[in-house]
Amino acid sequence: MAKRFKKVLLERLAEKLNKKQLELISNNLASGFQRIGDIAILTLNQQAINEQLQKIIAETMLKLFPQIKTVCVKTGSIIGQYRKPQIKVIASKARSRKTETIHTEYGCKYKFDVAKIMWSKGNINERVRIAKAIRPGSIVVDMFAGIGYFSIPIAKLSKAKHIYAIEINKTAFNYLQQNIKLNNIKNITAINDDCRNAINKLKHKVKADHIVMGLLPSCKQYLSCAMQIAKKGTIIHYEGLSNNQAKNLFEEVKQEAQKHNFKAKLLYASKVKSYKPKLWHYTVDVMLT
Ligand SMILES: C[S@@+](CC[C@H](N)C(=O)[O-])C[C@H]1O[C@@H](n2cnc3c(N)ncnc32)[C@H](O)[C@@H]1O
Repeated sequence: MAKRFKKVLLERLAEKLNKKQLELISNNLASGFQRIGDIAILTLNQQAINEQLQKIIAETMLKLFPQIKTVCVKTGSIIGQYRKPQIKVIASKARSRKTETIHTEYGCKYKFDVAKIMWSKGNINERVRIAKAIRPGSIVVDMFAGIGYFSIPIAKLSKAKHIYAIEINKTAFNYLQQNIKLNNIKNITAINDDCRNAINKLKHKVKADHIVMGLLPSCKQYLSCAMQIAKKGTIIHYEGLSNNQAKNLFEEVKQEAQKHNFKAKLLYASKVKSYKPKLWHYTVDVMLT
């Protein structure tokens, strides 16, 4: 549908807009939209398409897609340590214009407010890939758990023994707790703290088989903390940005591993998605030996 979306939308808009307005929309609206639960998020050039036209587009979308209840527009990029999105509602079927929804993916349910919490459609394969890479009976520590992007699929799709999901942001943490219940998960301990404090306490009783480090743009500064709960055989799932290849990310993990008397073996490396021009989101799985 995403590919046909713009064509279908423009055909419907042609019933009420003139040729110049349609051309403006055609040139300044992305070809697809992001659907999260019953919310649609549009990417468009806000300088070119004024608020009145945005409203017409959004109201037309609500009629075209009955399953969509609210249409939002991205007003900026994701900001800060908490990875907060910038999103504005332009039309809604609900009087409350609510931006909280439940998104389902691979049988996992994620409840969150799209105006407060980020969601990356481009990470869909990564969420499942990491879950499938978890060895049965593993202890997993998810250092940047958010609403459970990785912890929920790991609990649902792998045979992990226990998952410690650490999240610093209270809003994301509240959704993490709700998502654990919503998915009827019993083997996640959710911790609302900076992962450095949490690991300082956990290190006395936990050695992890898998450590998930999914913070962009970089989690390099947290590698020394991860090493405190690592052992021989631990696999670190490490995300980051690079302009050309995943090798740089592997080197970051390897250098920190050496400081803690581990060797590092690269098990997997891949490009996840484009982050911005000439910069890509990469992922590596590194085993400490
Ligand atoms: C948004 S998630 C990244 C999820 C995943 N990589 C993705 O893009 O789908 C990163 C989370 O780490 C949390 N975070 C940032 N710094 C942290 C810290 N020091 N300790 C624990 N959580 C932290 C943020 O609040 C955020 O919820």
